[in-house]
Amino acid sequence: MTVPTTTSPATTPSTTPVPRSEGWWRNAVVYQIYPRSFADSNGDGTGDIPGIIAHLDHLAELGVDVIWLSPVYTSPMDDNGYDIADYQDIDPLFGTLADMDELLAQAHARGIKILMDLVVNHTSDEHPWFVESRKPGSAKRDWYWWRPARDGHEPGTPGAEPTNWASAFSGPAWHWDEEAGAYYLHLFTRKQPDLNWENPEVREAVYAMMRWWVDRGVDGFRMDVINLISKPSELEDVPPRAGQPYGEGFAAVANGPRLAEFLAEMNAAVGLDEHHLLTVGEMPGSTVELARTITDRASHGLNMVFTFEHVNLDRDPEGSKFAHVPLDLVALKRNLEEWQVGLADVGWNSLYWDNHDQPRAVSRFGDDSPEFRAASAKTLASVLHMHRGTPYVYQGEELGMTNTTFAGIADYRDVEALNYHAEAVGLGEDPEAVLAGLASHSRDNARTPMQWDDTHQAGFTEGIPWLSVNPNYVLVNAKAELADPASVFHHTRRLIALRHELPVVAEGRFALLLGDDPQIWALTRTWEGRTLLLVANCSSRPATVPAGSVPDVAAAELLLATHGDRRGADLEPWESRIFLLG
Ligand code: NOJ
Repeated sequence: MTVPTTTSPATTPSTTPVPRSEGWWRNAVVYQIYPRSFADSNGDGTGDIPGIIAHLDHLAELGVDVIWLSPVYTSPMDDNGYDIADYQDIDPLFGTLADMDELLAQAHARGIKILMDLVVNHTSDEHPWFVESRKPGSAKRDWYWWRPARDGHEPGTPGAEPTNWASAFSGPAWHWDEEAGAYYLHLFTRKQPDLNWENPEVREAVYAMMRWWVDRGVDGFRMDVINLISKPSELEDVPPRAGQPYGEGFAAVANGPRLAEFLAEMNAAVGLDEHHLLTVGEMPGSTVELARTITDRASHGLNMVFTFEHVNLDRDPEGSKFAHVPLDLVALKRNLEEWQVGLADVGWNSLYWDNHDQPRAVSRFGDDSPEFRAASAKTLASVLHMHRGTPYVYQGEELGMTNTTFAGIADYRDVEALNYHAEAVGLGEDPEAVLAGLASHSRDNARTPMQWDDTHQAGFTEGIPWLSVNPNYVLVNAKAELADPASVFHHTRRLIALRHELPVVAEGRFALLLGDDPQIWALTRTWEGRTLLLVANCSSRPATVPAGSVPDVAAAELLLATHGDRRGADLEPWESRIFLLG
């Protein structure tokens, strides 16, 4: 069996882990850090691990249990670190392995656990495995997906690709490699070749690397596009997109036949369940049924998955990822309900609005106008945290950070946005429309630097940030929020505390009320004779709760509200209330 090469020092666990009991993640809240945008300690304009360490008290004050760290590994940064060249070292942009050990120690000292981002559907094309694999006659040739050109086609010419799959980041999902004399598959950029999980040596190399991190003290893994690791045995063409030569590569390969088998094998080989590690799999295109299978404890797969259904509801299914349609609140409520009900008895939900791949929720599902930004951010948080599952808070969400403004394509940094713009404009689409789609849905909206205070560059860096700071940092920043007891920060902090204090928040059985109401999101959670009630106006207009549609709250305890102790039927725009009954 091949053991992965590493340029790093031997494992030296430097930290006392936070004890992990069976199922500990059921009442935990996870905070996602996108390291390049969190805090820059050395003035180079990019966030880094010492910057994270310097701000751990912010997270301790918020009360989160876990940090999910987006990739900090050695990488050429074609996709901001989701293209890894060495899984067992830290990119100098972010620091060193010693910094990583210090982060583990400092987080653990505060009772905060750490999840690593596990990106193993693909590596960087600069990873030694791929460098080796492309050599003619290489023993590692089968570690990636190499295929000849389509019969009768000149290699490297349009249409010669082995299948007509589009990459998620524009263009074909196959690249002709002169040195190898073959095409390789890359479902993301051409610098992100897909690993061949059919090869047991690949799987063992990944598991060995994971064990190395577990020994180092990490508490779990967030698994990047994990439902792409099992590809179908036959790679076949898909229907092309309207007017284009390529079709959805993802759809052709997602949720392949050996997914559950690979995950169970990984679980056993790494000891994921045995060590009570938190495992969450990113699974675009996953259904409730698949999530149920994967997160059923009896199947020894993952603890939970990230679904994409709810974050696709404001996209035109016939258009590009950036084709926006207005959100139908009823559809959003019903979708979350379906997942709550589907995973009520078997499996577990993750709960999220925001992450580094999504535009900011307050701009998208809320109202980011000065009048309603804070109230809508708080109410969206209340809705999310009162569902059953493990909530994920993305950096800045606890401040109500919003989408930013882009003057033109030169303001974007994300490879997805830049590739899409070049392709769409090249295909003759209206450049203004392309930019409008990017402005509302580009991932760079989520990646603007964390807004710490109202000083130079929002307190993020002493230098020039890699991506411009959102101009609203003067008003929206951590310092101001911490000083204001009515802020989004303190509201989120109270929501997290409620989860820790009341078992009904973590475990209560879910029921949606007023399911077809276009403004009000109301639900109950029931556990051991106690009932929680959430009533939330998710609109910028006043709303009235229909008589008799929710339990009587006259004698209930008001746990948390956006607009003070008000119990009548009338709700202000974005007003929400959480009650404990009985
Ligand atoms: C999902 C990650 O969240 C995203 O940021 C990345 O671009 C792709 N997977 C490819 O790794």
